[in-house]
Amino acid sequence: MQPFEIKKDIFWVGAVDYDNRDFHGYSLSPAGSTYNAYFVNDEKKVLFDTVSASATGALLCRLAKLLPLEKVDYIVCNHLEQDHAGALAEVVARCKPEKIFCSQLGLQSMAGHFNIEDWPVQAVKNGEEISIGKRTVTFVETRMLHWPDSMVSYIPQDKLLISNDAFGQNIASTQRFADECPQEDFMHTIKEYYYNIVLPYSPQVLKAVPLVESLDIDMIAPDHGLIHRGKASCRFILDAYRTMAEQKPSRKALIVYDTMWHSTEKMASAIASGLEEVGVPVRLMSMKRNHHSAIMSELADCGAVIAGSPTHNNGILPLMAAMMTYMKGLRPKNRIGAAFGSYGWSGESAKILHEWLASMGMEMPADPLKFQWTPKHECLKACHEMGRTVGEALKKKCAE
Ligand code: FEO
Repeated sequence: MQPFEIKKDIFWVGAVDYDNRDFHGYSLSPAGSTYNAYFVNDEKKVLFDTVSASATGALLCRLAKLLPLEKVDYIVCNHLEQDHAGALAEVVARCKPEKIFCSQLGLQSMAGHFNIEDWPVQAVKNGEEISIGKRTVTFVETRMLHWPDSMVSYIPQDKLLISNDAFGQNIASTQRFADECPQEDFMHTIKEYYYNIVLPYSPQVLKAVPLVESLDIDMIAPDHGLIHRGKASCRFILDAYRTMAEQKPSRKALIVYDTMWHSTEKMASAIASGLEEVGVPVRLMSMKRNHHSAIMSELADCGAVIAGSPTHNNGILPLMAAMMTYMKGLRPKNRIGAAFGSYGWSGESAKILHEWLASMGMEMPADPLKFQWTPKHECLKACHEMGRTVGEALKKKCAE
């Protein structure tokens, strides 16, 4: 396990986790993730962030290739979530740092997770600067991007921003730089990460992007995945974040559904044909075939969500209930919604889904559509019409 020099005297000392498949509900399948930590070798020897507890050995091993562990002077904790701080107690015990820096709110999290009575913790203020020798480090709070304690570290002498979770991706790879990854694959992982982690904090992103743009940087080093190297790469990720945060409507629809005996599935296909007829591309995603994370990633390109479930025990099928809970928590904005479902006798599902989508602030141009038993011609015709209605509403919204 070797450290990797990303700039002169600045090293990646993180860990690649090929096995993790779940990040609080966000599926990391099939690739896992990478926990990045960075070491700066100046007059003060500084470690920026740690890794998850399971990867402690990898971090310490890489660090020990650069210096005896007890020579580490400072540890900076940009964020106390356990994928970056799980190793902290052991790292502190081994390195015995002179100081540990975190944000004011990070201090509360740190005290909540660890016994820090004997730790030399210094909570820094937003904009506070420290000298580490030839370099300085400026700490900038990025509250709720994506935790209250989150901050980033800026080293102007190296034009380097250590950005913690912001601008990351869940990629497990021996590559370290984004420009080594095919652009299309990379953009997919960026969207997947944003739509499963960062989306609720889009208002904070829209404040953070101009702030980062005001810094003289040519490298953004996140705590997950690949590093953005060079001004063009930094520009690319900042533009991508601004676009994703703005959530301008896209002329594409997503039909997400579950089905019991294929009736709701037939309704979904008929709705799709209506969308196609008015020239709106559509993606059908069955809950039986797709993880809720993949559906959220698809939503990045879709301005309309049409949700379907048969009625089950006076409610909706459990995979759709999980999907609605997950989607609502991630707070998508600026979408059009519609709901449908088949039923045998009580028929509540379409109304329940309609209310879920409306509660996310979606415009609902069509009434919930429900049909009993196996859909016949009249039902499929109405579904087709729903597709047309949603498609026309979406085209109008995109033209505004
Ligand atoms: Fe908020 Fe990567 O942890």
